Amino acid sequence: MTARRNVLELIPAIATRQPIVSGKTGVSWHMVMDPTALRRILKEKLDDYPKSVTTKLILNPAIGDSLFVAEGAHWRWQRRAAAPAFAQRHVEALGPVMTAAAEASCRRLSQARGPVDLFQETVAATFDVISDVTFSGDGMFDRDAVHQSIDAYIAQTAKLSLMDVLGLPAWLPRPGRLFSGPGLKRMKAIADQSIAARAQAAEKHGPPDLLDLLLVAQDPETGRTMTRDELRDNLLTFIVAGHETTALTLAWALYLMAFAPDIQEAAAAEARAALGDRAATAADLGALPLTMRIVNETLRLYPPAAFLSRTAQARDTLCGRQVNPGDTVMMPIYALHRHHLLWDRPDAFDPDRFLTAPDRYAFLPFGAGPRICIGASFALQEAVIILSTLLARFRFARVPGREPQPRMILTLRPEGGVWLTVTRRD
Ligand code: HEM
Repeated sequence: MTARRNVLELIPAIATRQPIVSGKTGVSWHMVMDPTALRRILKEKLDDYPKSVTTKLILNPAIGDSLFVAEGAHWRWQRRAAAPAFAQRHVEALGPVMTAAAEASCRRLSQARGPVDLFQETVAATFDVISDVTFSGDGMFDRDAVHQSIDAYIAQTAKLSLMDVLGLPAWLPRPGRLFSGPGLKRMKAIADQSIAARAQAAEKHGPPDLLDLLLVAQDPETGRTMTRDELRDNLLTFIVAGHETTALTLAWALYLMAFAPDIQEAAAAEARAALGDRAATAADLGALPLTMRIVNETLRLYPPAAFLSRTAQARDTLCGRQVNPGDTVMMPIYALHRHHLLWDRPDAFDPDRFLTAPDRYAFLPFGAGPRICIGASFALQEAVIILSTLLARFRFARVPGREPQPRMILTLRPEGGVWLTVTRRD
Protein backbone atom coordinates (compact mmCIF):
# COMPACT_ATOMS: atom_id res chain seq x y z
CA MET A 1 0.00 0.00 0.00
CA THR A 2 3.05 2.19 -0.33
CA ALA A 3 1.57 3.67 -3.44
CA ARG A 4 -1.51 4.99 -1.74
CA ARG A 5 0.71 6.74 0.75
CA ASN A 6 3.05 8.36 -1.68
CA VAL A 7 2.85 8.33 -5.43
CA LEU A 8 6.45 9.52 -5.63
CA GLU A 9 7.62 6.13 -4.43
CA LEU A 10 6.02 4.73 -7.56
CA ILE A 11 8.52 6.44 -9.78
CA PRO A 12 11.24 3.83 -10.07
CA ALA A 13 14.82 5.00 -9.63
CA ILE A 14 15.60 4.04 -13.23
CA ALA A 15 13.12 6.69 -14.38
CA THR A 16 15.88 9.23 -13.80
CA ARG A 17 18.24 7.26 -16.06
CA GLN A 18 16.03 5.84 -18.87
CA PRO A 19 14.03 7.75 -21.51
CA ILE A 20 10.95 5.56 -21.05
CA VAL A 21 9.75 2.95 -18.55
CA SER A 22 6.70 0.81 -19.38
CA GLY A 23 4.63 -1.73 -17.49
CA LYS A 24 1.23 -3.31 -17.15
CA THR A 25 -0.99 -3.19 -14.08
CA GLY A 26 -4.44 -3.86 -15.51
CA VAL A 27 -3.80 -1.30 -18.25
CA SER A 28 -0.50 -0.75 -20.03
CA TRP A 29 1.32 2.37 -18.97
CA HIS A 30 4.43 4.26 -20.01
CA MET A 31 6.46 6.82 -18.07
CA VAL A 32 8.07 9.18 -20.53
CA MET A 33 11.16 11.22 -19.61
CA ASP A 34 12.53 11.97 -23.09
CA PRO A 35 12.24 15.61 -24.28
CA THR A 36 11.58 14.67 -27.94
CA ALA A 37 8.79 12.26 -26.98
CA LEU A 38 7.35 14.80 -24.52
CA ARG A 39 7.24 17.37 -27.28
CA ARG A 40 5.30 14.90 -29.41
CA ILE A 41 2.75 14.21 -26.64
CA LEU A 42 2.28 17.82 -25.54
CA LYS A 43 2.56 19.61 -28.84
CA GLU A 44 2.76 17.69 -32.10
CA LYS A 45 0.13 15.02 -31.35
CA LEU A 46 -1.97 16.96 -28.86
CA ASP A 47 -5.29 15.47 -30.02
CA ASP A 48 -3.98 11.89 -29.74
CA TYR A 49 -3.03 12.43 -26.09
CA PRO A 50 -5.95 14.02 -24.22
CA LYS A 51 -5.83 14.33 -20.44
CA SER A 52 -6.20 10.95 -18.80
CA VAL A 53 -9.51 9.43 -17.84
CA THR A 54 -8.28 9.62 -14.25
CA THR A 55 -7.55 13.35 -14.30
CA LYS A 56 -11.11 13.90 -15.44
CA LEU A 57 -12.59 11.51 -12.92
CA ILE A 58 -10.88 13.41 -10.16
CA LEU A 59 -11.49 16.96 -11.26
CA ASN A 60 -14.79 16.89 -13.10
CA PRO A 61 -17.15 16.98 -10.11
CA ALA A 62 -15.43 20.08 -8.78
CA ILE A 63 -14.64 22.12 -11.82
CA GLY A 64 -16.97 20.68 -14.45
CA ASP A 65 -15.79 20.70 -18.02
CA SER A 66 -13.70 23.81 -17.52
CA LEU A 67 -10.45 24.87 -19.14
CA PHE A 68 -8.29 22.43 -17.19
CA VAL A 69 -10.19 19.27 -18.18
CA ALA A 70 -12.08 20.10 -21.40
CA GLU A 71 -10.86 18.71 -24.74
CA GLY A 72 -11.12 19.55 -28.42
CA ALA A 73 -13.36 22.39 -29.53
CA HIS A 74 -14.81 22.94 -26.05
CA TRP A 75 -11.33 23.41 -24.62
CA ARG A 76 -10.16 25.57 -27.54
CA TRP A 77 -12.85 28.25 -27.33
CA GLN A 78 -12.52 28.55 -23.54
CA ARG A 79 -8.76 28.94 -23.87
CA ARG A 80 -9.18 31.65 -26.52
CA ALA A 81 -11.76 33.45 -24.39
CA ALA A 82 -9.71 33.29 -21.16
CA ALA A 83 -6.30 34.08 -22.69
CA PRO A 84 -6.63 37.90 -22.61
CA ALA A 85 -7.31 37.80 -18.84
CA PHE A 86 -3.80 36.35 -18.41
CA ALA A 87 -2.06 38.70 -20.85
CA GLN A 88 1.10 40.30 -19.46
CA ARG A 89 -0.45 43.76 -18.94
CA HIS A 90 -3.35 42.34 -16.94
CA VAL A 91 -1.06 40.19 -14.82
CA GLU A 92 1.11 43.25 -14.11
CA ALA A 93 -1.99 45.24 -13.17
CA LEU A 94 -2.75 42.61 -10.51
CA GLY A 95 0.71 43.22 -8.96
CA PRO A 96 -0.62 45.42 -6.11
CA VAL A 97 -2.74 42.51 -4.83
CA MET A 98 0.42 40.38 -4.64
CA THR A 99 2.40 43.17 -2.95
CA ALA A 100 -0.36 43.55 -0.34
CA ALA A 101 -0.30 39.79 0.29
CA ALA A 102 3.50 39.94 0.78
CA GLU A 103 3.07 42.78 3.31
CA ALA A 104 0.39 40.85 5.19
CA SER A 105 2.64 37.78 5.30
CA CYS A 106 5.48 39.88 6.78
CA ARG A 107 3.12 41.19 9.47
CA ARG A 108 2.16 37.65 10.46
CA LEU A 109 5.77 36.45 10.47
CA SER A 110 6.87 39.41 12.62
CA GLN A 111 4.55 38.19 15.34
CA ALA A 112 5.73 34.59 15.22
CA ARG A 113 7.43 33.14 18.29
CA GLY A 114 9.34 29.88 17.77
CA PRO A 115 9.35 27.76 14.60
CA VAL A 116 6.74 28.54 11.95
CA ASP A 117 5.11 26.19 9.45
CA LEU A 118 5.95 28.11 6.29
CA PHE A 119 3.65 25.96 4.21
CA GLN A 120 0.66 27.16 6.25
CA GLU A 121 1.96 30.69 5.91
CA THR A 122 2.43 30.61 2.13
CA VAL A 123 -0.98 28.96 1.69
CA ALA A 124 -2.47 31.94 3.54
CA ALA A 125 -0.53 34.40 1.37
CA THR A 126 -1.46 32.85 -1.98
CA PHE A 127 -5.05 32.47 -0.85
CA ASP A 128 -5.16 36.24 -0.20
CA VAL A 129 -4.03 36.77 -3.78
CA ILE A 130 -6.31 34.34 -5.56
CA SER A 131 -9.40 35.28 -3.54
CA ASP A 132 -8.76 38.99 -4.13
CA VAL A 133 -8.57 38.55 -7.89
CA THR A 134 -11.63 36.31 -8.14
CA PHE A 135 -14.34 36.97 -5.56
CA SER A 136 -13.27 40.16 -3.85
CA GLY A 137 -15.00 43.48 -3.46
CA ASP A 138 -18.55 42.21 -3.35
CA GLY A 139 -19.19 42.73 0.33
CA MET A 140 -20.74 39.30 0.58
CA PHE A 141 -17.51 37.40 0.13
CA ASP A 142 -16.93 35.08 3.08
CA ARG A 143 -13.19 34.48 2.99
CA ASP A 144 -13.08 31.92 5.79
CA ALA A 145 -15.88 29.87 4.30
CA VAL A 146 -14.13 29.72 0.93
CA HIS A 147 -10.83 28.84 2.54
CA GLN A 148 -12.37 26.04 4.58
CA SER A 149 -14.18 24.66 1.55
CA ILE A 150 -10.97 24.55 -0.45
CA ASP A 151 -9.10 22.88 2.37
CA ALA A 152 -11.82 20.25 2.64
CA TYR A 153 -11.73 19.72 -1.10
CA ILE A 154 -7.96 19.28 -1.14
CA ALA A 155 -8.05 16.95 1.88
CA GLN A 156 -10.39 14.71 -0.07
CA THR A 157 -7.92 14.47 -2.92
CA ALA A 158 -5.61 12.77 -0.42
CA LYS A 159 -7.77 9.73 -0.97
CA LEU A 160 -6.39 9.46 -4.47
CA SER A 161 -4.99 6.00 -4.87
CA LEU A 162 -2.52 4.19 -7.03
CA MET A 163 -5.43 2.84 -9.05
CA ASP A 164 -6.48 6.34 -9.96
CA VAL A 165 -3.02 7.37 -10.99
CA LEU A 166 -2.45 4.39 -13.20
CA GLY A 167 -5.86 4.89 -14.73
CA LEU A 168 -7.45 1.59 -13.79
CA PRO A 169 -11.08 1.08 -14.77
CA ALA A 170 -13.66 3.17 -12.99
CA TRP A 171 -15.62 0.10 -11.85
CA LEU A 172 -12.86 -1.08 -9.51
CA PRO A 173 -13.60 -0.18 -5.88
CA ARG A 174 -12.13 3.13 -4.79
CA PRO A 175 -11.40 4.36 -1.27
CA GLY A 176 -14.57 6.39 -0.88
CA ARG A 177 -16.18 8.77 -3.29
CA LEU A 178 -13.66 11.42 -4.12
CA PHE A 179 -15.52 14.65 -4.36
CA SER A 180 -18.82 14.96 -2.76
CA GLY A 181 -19.85 16.54 0.45
CA PRO A 182 -20.81 19.93 1.72
CA GLY A 183 -17.42 21.61 1.17
CA LEU A 184 -17.70 21.52 -2.57
CA LYS A 185 -21.37 22.57 -2.60
CA ARG A 186 -20.59 25.51 -0.40
CA MET A 187 -17.67 26.60 -2.56
CA LYS A 188 -19.87 26.55 -5.66
CA ALA A 189 -22.63 28.47 -3.90
CA ILE A 190 -20.22 31.20 -2.80
CA ALA A 191 -18.83 31.49 -6.31
CA ASP A 192 -22.33 31.75 -7.79
CA GLN A 193 -23.25 34.52 -5.36
CA SER A 194 -20.10 36.48 -6.14
CA ILE A 195 -20.66 36.25 -9.86
CA ALA A 196 -24.28 37.36 -9.57
CA ALA A 197 -23.33 40.28 -7.33
CA ARG A 198 -20.52 41.41 -9.60
CA ALA A 199 -22.61 41.19 -12.73
CA GLN A 200 -25.15 43.55 -11.15
CA ALA A 201 -22.69 45.89 -9.49
CA ALA A 202 -22.29 49.38 -10.84
CA GLU A 203 -18.87 50.45 -11.99
CA LYS A 204 -15.99 49.06 -10.01
CA HIS A 205 -12.86 51.00 -9.29
CA GLY A 206 -9.32 49.82 -9.88
CA PRO A 207 -7.96 47.54 -12.57
CA PRO A 208 -10.18 44.66 -13.72
CA ASP A 209 -9.60 41.39 -11.89
CA LEU A 210 -10.05 37.84 -13.19
CA LEU A 211 -13.80 37.82 -12.50
CA ASP A 212 -14.33 41.13 -14.37
CA LEU A 213 -12.29 39.86 -17.30
CA LEU A 214 -14.08 36.50 -17.48
CA LEU A 215 -17.48 38.22 -17.32
CA VAL A 216 -16.67 39.94 -20.61
CA ALA A 217 -14.54 37.10 -22.04
CA GLN A 218 -15.48 36.18 -25.56
CA ASP A 219 -14.13 33.70 -28.08
CA PRO A 220 -12.63 35.99 -30.74
CA GLU A 221 -13.52 33.46 -33.46
CA THR A 222 -17.14 32.66 -32.64
CA GLY A 223 -18.18 35.47 -30.32
CA ARG A 224 -19.32 32.91 -27.75
CA THR A 225 -19.29 34.02 -24.11
CA MET A 226 -19.33 31.91 -20.94
CA THR A 227 -22.56 30.87 -19.26
CA ARG A 228 -22.75 31.51 -15.52
CA ASP A 229 -21.93 27.85 -14.85
CA GLU A 230 -18.92 27.90 -17.16
CA LEU A 231 -17.74 31.10 -15.54
CA ARG A 232 -18.10 29.60 -12.08
CA ASP A 233 -16.29 26.38 -13.02
CA ASN A 234 -13.39 28.34 -14.51
CA LEU A 235 -13.08 30.61 -11.49
CA LEU A 236 -12.95 27.56 -9.24
CA THR A 237 -10.38 26.06 -11.59
CA PHE A 238 -8.14 29.09 -11.15
CA ILE A 239 -8.46 28.80 -7.39
CA VAL A 240 -7.76 25.06 -7.32
CA ALA A 241 -4.98 25.15 -9.93
CA GLY A 242 -3.31 28.35 -8.81
CA HIS A 243 -3.55 28.59 -5.06
CA GLU A 244 -1.80 25.55 -3.62
CA THR A 245 0.72 25.22 -6.45
CA THR A 246 2.09 28.71 -5.87
CA ALA A 247 2.07 28.21 -2.08
CA LEU A 248 4.09 25.02 -2.54
CA THR A 249 6.63 26.78 -4.75
CA LEU A 250 7.15 29.40 -2.06
CA ALA A 251 7.31 26.90 0.81
CA TRP A 252 9.84 24.68 -0.97
CA ALA A 253 11.89 27.74 -1.96
CA LEU A 254 12.14 28.83 1.68
CA TYR A 255 13.00 25.27 2.70
CA LEU A 256 15.84 25.21 0.14
CA MET A 257 17.00 28.64 1.35
CA ALA A 258 17.33 27.25 4.87
CA PHE A 259 19.69 24.58 3.49
CA ALA A 260 21.74 27.03 1.43
CA PRO A 261 22.54 29.98 3.73
CA ASP A 262 25.01 31.50 1.24
CA ILE A 263 22.45 31.65 -1.52
CA GLN A 264 19.88 32.97 0.96
CA GLU A 265 22.24 35.81 1.91
CA ALA A 266 22.90 36.65 -1.75
CA ALA A 267 19.16 36.71 -2.51
CA ALA A 268 18.50 38.85 0.57
CA ALA A 269 21.19 41.30 -0.57
CA GLU A 270 19.67 41.43 -4.06
CA ALA A 271 16.21 42.08 -2.62
CA ARG A 272 17.40 44.77 -0.17
CA ALA A 273 19.31 46.56 -2.94
CA ALA A 274 16.28 46.54 -5.23
CA LEU A 275 13.58 47.24 -2.64
CA GLY A 276 15.07 49.08 0.32
CA ASP A 277 12.31 49.14 2.93
CA ARG A 278 9.34 48.56 0.69
CA ALA A 279 7.69 45.37 -0.50
CA ALA A 280 8.32 44.19 -4.07
CA THR A 281 6.02 45.17 -6.95
CA ALA A 282 5.63 43.79 -10.46
CA ALA A 283 7.97 46.54 -11.70
CA ASP A 284 10.84 45.12 -9.59
CA LEU A 285 10.99 41.74 -11.34
CA GLY A 286 13.78 42.78 -13.72
CA ALA A 287 15.98 43.75 -10.76
CA LEU A 288 15.53 40.36 -9.04
CA PRO A 289 17.19 37.85 -11.40
CA LEU A 290 18.65 35.65 -8.65
CA THR A 291 15.23 35.38 -6.97
CA MET A 292 13.76 34.32 -10.30
CA ARG A 293 16.49 31.67 -10.71
CA ILE A 294 15.76 30.40 -7.19
CA VAL A 295 12.08 30.08 -8.08
CA ASN A 296 12.95 28.17 -11.26
CA GLU A 297 15.38 25.87 -9.45
CA THR A 298 12.70 25.21 -6.82
CA LEU A 299 10.20 24.35 -9.56
CA ARG A 300 12.81 21.95 -10.98
CA LEU A 301 13.53 20.10 -7.73
CA TYR A 302 10.00 20.22 -6.31
CA PRO A 303 7.59 20.67 -9.22
CA PRO A 304 4.14 21.14 -7.62
CA ALA A 305 2.51 19.34 -10.56
CA ALA A 306 4.96 16.46 -10.36
CA PHE A 307 3.01 13.96 -12.40
CA LEU A 308 0.95 14.64 -15.54
CA SER A 309 -0.97 11.93 -17.34
CA ARG A 310 -2.73 11.32 -20.64
CA THR A 311 -4.72 8.48 -22.21
CA ALA A 312 -3.45 7.55 -25.71
CA GLN A 313 -6.11 7.60 -28.45
CA ALA A 314 -4.09 6.32 -31.40
CA ARG A 315 -1.35 3.83 -32.04
CA ASP A 316 2.03 5.53 -31.81
CA THR A 317 5.72 4.93 -31.14
CA LEU A 318 7.49 6.76 -28.32
CA CYS A 319 11.25 6.21 -27.81
CA GLY A 320 10.98 3.10 -29.99
CA ARG A 321 8.21 1.65 -27.81
CA GLN A 322 4.74 0.86 -29.14
CA VAL A 323 1.86 2.77 -27.57
CA ASN A 324 -1.71 1.50 -28.08
CA PRO A 325 -5.02 3.30 -27.78
CA GLY A 326 -6.13 3.21 -24.13
CA ASP A 327 -2.59 3.09 -22.73
CA THR A 328 -1.85 5.47 -19.87
CA VAL A 329 1.00 7.80 -20.74
CA MET A 330 2.55 9.40 -17.68
CA MET A 331 4.92 12.33 -17.59
CA PRO A 332 6.70 12.17 -14.22
CA ILE A 333 7.94 15.75 -14.19
CA TYR A 334 9.73 15.06 -10.90
CA ALA A 335 11.89 12.37 -12.57
CA LEU A 336 12.37 14.45 -15.74
CA HIS A 337 13.72 17.32 -13.65
CA ARG A 338 16.20 15.01 -11.91
CA HIS A 339 17.19 13.01 -14.97
CA HIS A 340 20.88 12.11 -15.18
CA LEU A 341 21.02 12.41 -18.96
CA LEU A 342 19.48 15.88 -18.93
CA TRP A 343 20.89 17.67 -15.89
CA ASP A 344 24.33 18.08 -14.43
CA ARG A 345 24.31 16.99 -10.73
CA PRO A 346 20.53 16.62 -10.94
CA ASP A 347 19.82 16.44 -7.20
CA ALA A 348 21.91 19.49 -6.28
CA PHE A 349 20.29 22.86 -5.57
CA ASP A 350 22.04 25.30 -7.91
CA PRO A 351 19.97 28.29 -9.07
CA ASP A 352 22.81 29.43 -11.34
CA ARG A 353 22.18 26.52 -13.70
CA PHE A 354 19.36 28.77 -14.97
CA LEU A 355 21.89 31.37 -16.15
CA THR A 356 21.55 29.41 -19.40
CA ALA A 357 18.11 28.32 -20.55
CA PRO A 358 17.50 24.56 -20.24
CA ASP A 359 16.22 22.38 -23.08
CA ARG A 360 12.57 23.46 -23.52
CA TYR A 361 11.15 19.97 -23.00
CA ALA A 362 13.50 19.02 -20.14
CA PHE A 363 11.96 21.65 -17.81
CA LEU A 364 8.19 21.39 -17.60
CA PRO A 365 6.90 22.82 -14.31
CA PHE A 366 4.03 24.43 -16.22
CA GLY A 367 3.70 21.78 -18.94
CA ALA A 368 4.19 22.90 -22.56
CA GLY A 369 2.47 23.23 -25.91
CA PRO A 370 -1.07 24.58 -26.37
CA ARG A 371 -2.15 23.35 -22.93
CA ILE A 372 0.66 25.01 -21.04
CA CYS A 373 -0.44 26.53 -17.73
CA ILE A 374 -2.43 29.68 -18.48
CA GLY A 375 -1.40 31.14 -15.11
CA ALA A 376 2.38 30.65 -15.44
CA SER A 377 3.36 34.31 -15.56
CA PHE A 378 0.81 35.14 -12.88
CA ALA A 379 2.38 32.48 -10.64
CA LEU A 380 5.98 33.49 -11.35
CA GLN A 381 5.25 37.16 -10.71
CA GLU A 382 3.48 36.31 -7.46
CA ALA A 383 6.27 33.97 -6.31
CA VAL A 384 9.04 36.51 -6.96
CA ILE A 385 7.13 39.38 -5.31
CA ILE A 386 6.41 37.40 -2.15
CA LEU A 387 9.77 35.56 -1.93
CA SER A 388 11.93 38.66 -2.42
CA THR A 389 9.89 40.64 0.12
CA LEU A 390 10.25 37.89 2.72
CA LEU A 391 13.98 37.36 2.08
CA ALA A 392 14.68 41.10 2.34
CA ARG A 393 13.16 41.22 5.81
CA PHE A 394 13.69 37.82 7.42
CA ARG A 395 16.29 35.11 7.80
CA PHE A 396 15.07 31.50 7.56
CA ALA A 397 16.85 28.63 9.31
CA ARG A 398 16.17 24.93 9.59
CA VAL A 399 14.87 23.25 12.67
CA PRO A 400 16.95 20.06 13.05
CA GLY A 401 14.85 16.93 13.16
CA ARG A 402 11.88 18.56 11.43
CA GLU A 403 12.79 18.14 7.75
CA PRO A 404 9.70 17.57 5.63
CA GLN A 405 9.38 14.62 3.26
CA PRO A 406 8.11 15.34 -0.24
CA ARG A 407 4.86 13.53 -0.74
CA MET A 408 2.86 13.36 -3.93
CA ILE A 409 -0.90 13.41 -3.66
CA LEU A 410 -2.44 15.62 -6.30
CA THR A 411 0.45 18.04 -5.97
CA LEU A 412 3.88 17.56 -4.43
CA ARG A 413 3.44 18.42 -0.75
CA PRO A 414 5.81 18.65 2.19
CA GLU A 415 4.49 16.10 4.64
CA GLY A 416 4.29 17.55 8.13
CA GLY A 417 4.79 21.10 6.88
CA VAL A 418 7.91 23.22 6.40
CA TRP A 419 9.00 24.24 9.89
CA LEU A 420 11.70 26.91 10.02
CA THR A 421 12.82 29.52 12.50
CA VAL A 422 12.22 33.03 11.25
CA THR A 423 14.17 36.04 12.53
CA ARG A 424 13.89 39.67 11.46
CA ARG A 425 16.92 41.03 9.70
CA ASP A 426 16.75 44.55 11.16
C1 HEM B 1 3.60 27.53 -9.49
C2 HEM B 1 2.31 27.51 -9.79
C3 HEM B 1 1.69 26.65 -10.86
C4 HEM B 1 2.12 25.46 -11.39
C5 HEM B 1 3.37 24.66 -11.03
C6 HEM B 1 1.16 25.08 -12.41
C7 HEM B 1 1.28 23.94 -13.21
C8 HEM B 1 0.44 23.64 -14.28
C9 HEM B 1 0.66 22.56 -15.22
C10 HEM B 1 1.82 21.58 -15.18
C11 HEM B 1 -0.36 22.59 -16.11
C12 HEM B 1 -0.53 21.65 -17.32
C13 HEM B 1 -1.22 20.37 -16.90
C14 HEM B 1 -1.21 19.33 -17.99
O1 HEM B 1 -0.73 19.56 -19.11
O2 HEM B 1 -1.72 18.21 -17.71
C15 HEM B 1 -1.24 23.67 -15.73
C16 HEM B 1 -2.41 24.02 -16.38
C17 HEM B 1 -3.28 25.00 -15.96
N1 HEM B 1 -3.06 25.92 -14.93
FE1 HEM B 1 -1.41 26.03 -13.79
N2 HEM B 1 0.17 26.01 -12.46
C18 HEM B 1 0.45 27.01 -11.55
C19 HEM B 1 -0.28 28.16 -11.31
C20 HEM B 1 -1.49 28.47 -11.92
C21 HEM B 1 -2.28 29.67 -11.67
C22 HEM B 1 -1.85 30.82 -10.74
C23 HEM B 1 -3.44 29.55 -12.41
C24 HEM B 1 -4.61 30.51 -12.54
C25 HEM B 1 -4.80 31.59 -11.84
C26 HEM B 1 -3.36 28.29 -13.13
C27 HEM B 1 -4.33 27.80 -13.98
C28 HEM B 1 -4.16 26.74 -14.84
C29 HEM B 1 -5.16 26.34 -15.84
C30 HEM B 1 -6.52 26.98 -16.08
C31 HEM B 1 -4.59 25.25 -16.56
C32 HEM B 1 -5.23 24.49 -17.73
C33 HEM B 1 -4.82 25.16 -19.01
C34 HEM B 1 -5.33 24.46 -20.26
O3 HEM B 1 -5.48 23.22 -20.26
O4 HEM B 1 -5.58 25.16 -21.27
N3 HEM B 1 -2.18 27.66 -12.81
N4 HEM B 1 -0.72 24.31 -14.61
